[in-house]
Amino acid sequence: MNLDHIRNISIIAHIDHGKSTLADRLLQMTGTVTDREMKEQLLDSMDLEREKGVTIKASAVRMIYKYQGEEYEINLIDTPGHVDFSYEVSRALQACEGAILVVDASQGIQAQTMAHLFAALEQNLTIIPVINKIDLPGAMPDEVAQEIEDLLGVPAEDIPRISAKAGTNVEAVLEQVVQQVPPPKGDLNAPLRALVFDCQYDPYKGVIAYVRVVDGQINGTPALLAMSTGKTMEPLEVGVLTPAMLATNSLHAGEVGYIATGLKSVQDLDVGDTITLASKPAQERLPGYKPMKPMVFAGLYPSNPDDYGDLRDALEKLQLNDAALVYEPETSQALGFGFRLGFLGLFHMEIVQERLEREYDLDIIFTAPSVEYKVVKTDGTVLAIDSPAQLPDPTQIERIEEPWCELRIFTPAEYIGPVLDLVTKRRGELKNQNWLDTKRVEIVCMIPLSEIIVDFYNELKARTRGYASMDYTLDEYRPSDMVKLDILVNHQPVDALSVIVHRDDAYHKGQKLVSKMKEIIPRQMFTVPIQAAIGNKVISRANVQALRKDVLSKCYGGDVTRKRKLLEKQKAGKKRMKMVGQVEIPQEAFMSVLRLE
Ligand code: GTP
Repeated sequence: MNLDHIRNISIIAHIDHGKSTLADRLLQMTGTVTDREMKEQLLDSMDLEREKGVTIKASAVRMIYKYQGEEYEINLIDTPGHVDFSYEVSRALQACEGAILVVDASQGIQAQTMAHLFAALEQNLTIIPVINKIDLPGAMPDEVAQEIEDLLGVPAEDIPRISAKAGTNVEAVLEQVVQQVPPPKGDLNAPLRALVFDCQYDPYKGVIAYVRVVDGQINGTPALLAMSTGKTMEPLEVGVLTPAMLATNSLHAGEVGYIATGLKSVQDLDVGDTITLASKPAQERLPGYKPMKPMVFAGLYPSNPDDYGDLRDALEKLQLNDAALVYEPETSQALGFGFRLGFLGLFHMEIVQERLEREYDLDIIFTAPSVEYKVVKTDGTVLAIDSPAQLPDPTQIERIEEPWCELRIFTPAEYIGPVLDLVTKRRGELKNQNWLDTKRVEIVCMIPLSEIIVDFYNELKARTRGYASMDYTLDEYRPSDMVKLDILVNHQPVDALSVIVHRDDAYHKGQKLVSKMKEIIPRQMFTVPIQAAIGNKVISRANVQALRKDVLSKCYGGDVTRKRKLLEKQKAGKKRMKMVGQVEIPQEAFMSVLRLE
């Protein structure tokens, strides 16, 4: 199609403001999918995908829209919804000329509305703001329109007010897209440059790269080259997404489509890379390529050691689709064989955890998450450390630096007090307060990343009755008084329970862990001391009193078979016992301590 009649757009929104619902309506209205095919939230139907074993999660869909008698090709590019993937979001936005910014009429602008909006403005996109959910009883479209006008300068009366759910006024959104978003530019005769804005593993076709062709064209299936890794590909086909893959045999500058690359794992191709022709490569790749780097780390263990193989298989499969997930084997004395995982951030970690449990039906346990510390040793060497076990001896440590981030919290004004209290408790520093209107405020602060990866978001929600939203970006490393806190059972450290904490929190945290362990460790034949220690210094202690455990005590009379059964049960239970400092501890005990975290 003529470039003048192409529009490449994305939908951006805070979580739950209605991005997927609007996308569904647009697909329906343009007849891209029929009503019968229409499953709610087609663009993110992971369950469905699994059932059918094929990729239907479309990262980009081509729609044909008739406007004033002419046909327009509108490519809708899906962006990952949350901030951990902000790097991928900005790649997806780079493939567009415009973005629809959806704002919930009952909630107004939220933290991730701003985060996505900034990303879109950075790419110089035309922004089409839309107010959604006007059908809700709590909708305040006038106030929200004013907020948007103040922010973007778009006159309040020009902003479409829609209900994506009911389909009200959705047509106005498409009209504005055609009128206001500029058509793509691109040089058809230049060497091929296609931006990979997402990729996905398809069991039949291997790695599918979703691309925006910026320059040149692909005809047929020539050998291709990924410019940053130098990897060559023998593609199987190229085409567009309708949303099903439709082979077209060609893609040219300005268009959005897919390349079935023939690669076997998403690890082989980076989102953000530039694909060119192997025979006639472009000189320079497209800007902005940057490898993804994990920021949060945790150990992962199967609750039942027999599931180790299944867990490994599940991780392998998950990684086919999630290039940002990294892992390596790790062994713990207390928990047995497992893995150390790296995540882009706390939301990413939650998603992985949920997918492992839900999609692979595994009972798993995560150790306390950690960030990556920079440890400067007395001999001047610098180590990057993401696990307490890797910390060198305290006498060799000159200083430890930890990552800080800029945190932005949007909240109704009446919760400013509780929010600031939370921030201060977690060692944060207030930087700025920006009033959005008389009732809502944006709080900007600096805070150590380690303080927000555990439970911060839940606490924030609890303190603001669910009204606050947050977003963070990594800022800088700062020196910090971090120590390794060990939990000792009968004078032996339990590796899975060691944590790196700020010295000020060590006492409190140590006490908590000690008293939890005390409750959970079964009584032994001798008294077992449980201690929390920093180096050689014990900061908290409790004893588990001695007791002879007699499983037969409950058997009155002389029923031999019952006795035998009980003894066998005890034997089976012992298999899962771990020896720590001559104390047999059921693995369950560690699990429950970690679960309580
Ligand atoms: P994430 O994918 O989680 O980021 O959310 P999203 O922005 O894609 O939102 P989604 O489309 O999943 O909608 C979130 C919820 O709001 C769903 O329960 C929708 O049914 C509901 N919703 C979306 N649009 C409307 C609307 O116009 N009116 C009402 N009442 N509800 C809506």
